[in-house]
Amino acid sequence: MSDQISTRVRHAALSDLAAIHGLLVDLGYAHLSRDALADVLDALLRDDTRGVWLADVETEVVGLLTTTVRSQLRLAGLEMTVEELVVREHVRGRGVGRALLDRAKAEARRLGVLRVQLTTNRTRDVYVRGFYPKNGFVEAPSAVMRWSPET
Ligand SMILES: CC(C)(COP(=O)(O)OP(=O)(O)OC[C@H]1O[C@@H](n2cnc3c(N)ncnc32)[C@H](O)[C@@H]1OP(=O)(O)O)[C@@H](O)C(=O)NCCC(=O)NCCS
Repeated sequence: MSDQISTRVRHAALSDLAAIHGLLVDLGYAHLSRDALADVLDALLRDDTRGVWLADVETEVVGLLTTTVRSQLRLAGLEMTVEELVVREHVRGRGVGRALLDRAKAEARRLGVLRVQLTTNRTRDVYVRGFYPKNGFVEAPSAVMRWSPET
């Protein structure tokens, strides 16, 4: 493991749009339009159920984590979903991802969330390298089902 790096995790602002766009490109979403992204970011920042967190190393934005918190009847309480998590390639493996997840966990505890969940792809490095189990997550036997209006 490389040396850990000192990270500050904070709420995002609209002025972070360019950095967030770059992070989403790193996550594999290179086709996103800046204008469309700006509208969605603006909506998320006004929405109490959504969290948009950034990790800074000195003055550089190097990580993004987004969450949704909602009530679930089947839990009779709140569930948090981690929607997006990405760290810039040149600082991966130095504790930034863990720091972002720790912030999500702290927020979950603060809000009295009963469960935090996320979906990942089994072909991604993050899955193969066991990042989530190392951070206390347990794999569920769920399947992701998708439907698109165009089909
Ligand atoms: C997954 C990710 C967010 C983790 O952030 P990070 O800052 O690299 O992780 P940390 O340094 O806090 O944690 C270290 C662990 O992350 C994993 N890791 C380290 N370097 C990595 C790399 N280059 N790529 C993927 N995972 C890595 C390993 O499990 C590592 O543990 P190990 O050193 O015992 O092998 C980051 O690697 C990333 O952005 N990957 C690409 C996007 C992605 O897959 N996002 C998750 C989608 S569900």
